[in-house]
Amino acid sequence: MTSTKSATAQACANIALVKYWGKRDSALNLPAASSLSLTLDALRTTTTVTFDDGLTGDEFELDGQAAATGRLGPWLDLVRKRADITTFARVVSENNFPTASGLASSAAAFAALAVAATEAAGLSLGRTELSELARRGSGSAARSIFGGFALMHRGERCDGTDCVAEELLARDEWPLRMVIAVVGGGKKKSVSSRDAMDHCAETSPLYQAWIGCVAKDIDDASSAIMSRDLSALGAVTQGSAMAMHAAAMASRPPVRYWQPSTLRCLDAVEALQESGLHAYPTMDAGPHVKVLTNEEHCEEVATGLRQLEGVSGVIISHAGPGAHLLPSAE
Ligand code: PMV
Repeated sequence: MTSTKSATAQACANIALVKYWGKRDSALNLPAASSLSLTLDALRTTTTVTFDDGLTGDEFELDGQAAATGRLGPWLDLVRKRADITTFARVVSENNFPTASGLASSAAAFAALAVAATEAAGLSLGRTELSELARRGSGSAARSIFGGFALMHRGERCDGTDCVAEELLARDEWPLRMVIAVVGGGKKKSVSSRDAMDHCAETSPLYQAWIGCVAKDIDDASSAIMSRDLSALGAVTQGSAMAMHAAAMASRPPVRYWQPSTLRCLDAVEALQESGLHAYPTMDAGPHVKVLTNEEHCEEVATGLRQLEGVSGVIISHAGPGAHLLPSAE
């Protein structure tokens, strides 16, 4: 008779307000600088991991389709090693948003996986250890273990044990909103963030300047969060995204995620700002524009973006919870 052990977890994506872009160690996935993010309630991944004696290899299903295990197998090996088991796993994952389109799907994916896989393997890890494990799958996933505002520490140690995130402010302590303009129909992105940041570090003459501005941005963003100063946080958010993309665009050959509709969104956000609204844009490894705003202004920001050519959808998100277990289906 075969034996199985299963657990289901849910995690939200997060959007960095101070971006992570570049590594100090590729094998352990250690970032070259710290980062700071807001976890988003509207973008969720639900994942069930089942360790099953009857399997002859790991299996992965994403949004109802069989998918390549890719990075998943080596990542599951980390869990197996820690739990001292050799059993293969079946991983079934559902996103409620377009996968691999620059909407931070890998962050939610590896955070949900860390919680579900460790539980199914019989491990009992604290949030810091879960954050470290999630980081091995995707740098930004370390932040999605936490809700609200999360600060990811660059860390100093070579083994990465101090390279983990922590919650800076709980999600209900400052009710901000993120308005996401989906540009280009949520199609798959051309260059993964992983490849693009390595290429940028190797070839962009602006890479060192980018890394050089992160520490001050982290300090300024942290102070703005603690004092609930949205204008100050917005200025850092916008500046960090533009600096990251400038460094990426200066790579040789260039990495450019922007599309014509991206610029339409950025123009519209600038006009909203000029009309006195809180509206601060940020972007990741895709063409979408995410706008940091507050409860009062979010509908107006969404309306301004929804009517633009090339914007296929607009999502308004509250701050979200950290990754957590869901009750088992059985
Ligand atoms: O975690 P990764 O490898 O998908 O990298 C995330 C990179 C950005 O989304 C562009 C920035 C960030 O900090 O999330």
